[in-house]
Amino acid sequence: MHPVSFVGAGPGAPDLLTLRAADRLKQADRLIWTDSLINPAIAKLAPDHCKHIRTSTLTLEEVIPELIEGQRQGERVVRLHDGDPSLYSAINEQICALNDADIPVEVIPGISAYQVTASTLRCELTIPGVVQTIVLSRTGGRTGVPPSEELRHLSALKASLCLYLSARHVDDVQSTLEEHYPDDTPVAIGYRVSWPDEQITVVPLKEMAATSRALNLIRTTLYVVSPALSRLPKRSKLYSPEHDHLFRPGTS
Ligand SMILES: C[S@@+](CC[C@H](N)C(=O)[O-])C[C@H]1O[C@@H](n2cnc3c(N)ncnc32)[C@H](O)[C@@H]1O
Repeated sequence: MHPVSFVGAGPGAPDLLTLRAADRLKQADRLIWTDSLINPAIAKLAPDHCKHIRTSTLTLEEVIPELIEGQRQGERVVRLHDGDPSLYSAINEQICALNDADIPVEVIPGISAYQVTASTLRCELTIPGVVQTIVLSRTGGRTGVPPSEELRHLSALKASLCLYLSARHVDDVQSTLEEHYPDDTPVAIGYRVSWPDEQITVVPLKEMAATSRALNLIRTTLYVVSPALSRLPKRSKLYSPEHDHLFRPGTS
């Protein structure tokens, strides 16, 4: 019997799927997919006979029986989530339910929104001497975050901060960030990055909320707040002639 495959669809463009993800899709007998966030062109990679189930209007209680029924009938069941399934995908509750039903699962990674935003901007988010940490988080909103992870604590790190699911609260986000980051810190605002209607812009922190409102961004928007986006001409030790390492031992 095949495991249920939880597959990361990546940020939108079909050619950003991993080869393994594309393989699972091309063999799927039953595809249960997050149609509110995934490019339909990716769902179309499934074969003609595949049964398609869209989850935007379903509850967990309706999704789980679809997964179990397909797997028990010997089908190759693919549960497709946008981006990488380790981030804000709600796979945990599904895997717990499948574990209770003794259904095996596998998880196949995908490219997350922060990665495609950085690559589209041709940026490294960890520049030596500037910033060495990336924080992936969200503002509270309806779901809430644990008190120790509130934005005012995370922003004190002044790391490269990638904020998912936060566009509806952008005014509060900007004022909280301004407590720690200089107000000219670059902020990348990415909307549907890698989709045909992608919008991506970099503005100073002080213009983050006004720009988001002007572009009418509410859904599928990612913020990357980072001094690394300034493209400071800092160099790494890794490729420095003064720095020896295992593969490039010193001559002295
Ligand atoms: C439910 S979360 C899922 C995140 C996803 N698992 C990932 O790794 O990117 C959806 C949020 O991810 C972000 N997002 C996903 N795809 C995006 C894209 N192509 N462009 C910009 N933001 C995106 C937005 O913040 C969106 O509201």
